[in-house]
Amino acid sequence: MLHLNIVNVETPEEMGKAAADVFEAVIHAKPACVMGLATGSTPLPLYRELIAREKAGLIDFSRVRSANLDEYKGLGPDHPQSYRRFMQENLFDHISIKPENTIVPDGLATDIPAMCEAYERKIEDWGGVDIQLLGIGHDGHIGFNEPCDYFPVMTHEVQLTAMTREANKRFFSSIDEVPTSAITMGIGTVMAAKRIVMIITGADKAEILHKVFFGPVTPEVPGSILQFHPDVTLICDAAAAAGLHK
Ligand code: GLP
Repeated sequence: MLHLNIVNVETPEEMGKAAADVFEAVIHAKPACVMGLATGSTPLPLYRELIAREKAGLIDFSRVRSANLDEYKGLGPDHPQSYRRFMQENLFDHISIKPENTIVPDGLATDIPAMCEAYERKIEDWGGVDIQLLGIGHDGHIGFNEPCDYFPVMTHEVQLTAMTREANKRFFSSIDEVPTSAITMGIGTVMAAKRIVMIITGADKAEILHKVFFGPVTPEVPGSILQFHPDVTLICDAAAAAGLHK
């Protein structure tokens, strides 16, 4: 059952430091650990902090492996809005992680089911995810697991909802540019992580935070499955934490 460790922070910078503390501890305990990583605006202060800590000699990423949650279908590593590019620019290019030790689903794969299977196998070969970072979508999606009538288990292709495309259009020149589908780790892939850190900031996420942790566990709110994970650390600012006290 859920063991929820809640960390309250004031600012995005503090959130980045609190999340980095967890990553640092995991990397110290297991220098070749596997990080599950996320994109979006919320993780940026964490990535800045991780970069700073390696520069300060506090963390060593040279043996760490990482697997990203998701990628837009149709966007390759050179596309400015691809999640591979996001990860390179915001983290990988600035730390000592080896390129072959970072995986992101291939948005250009022609055989998507085969690529998804290989992705799962790679994570398994690495021994599974030790620490999974998650943000949350306004509709409760984790990775790109959108609300639906079941919990998809493995890495798979998914149609993005209008709400998700709308929320992510800020990164594109127009809504028409936002891909209509994506490849995401499954709910099973995420739940298999030994430890999960969820980061949530902003008043606009208070309601979904409440639904995720205190509402019914339902695939209509994909993040609600976390209530069944034994080791979740929720780091949230005061505006999002309003959802804890509803
Ligand atoms: C995207 C990503 C999710 C992320 C979500 C929220 O949909 N696929 O992994 O959690 O956006 O992003 P933000 O932190 O920018 O609100």
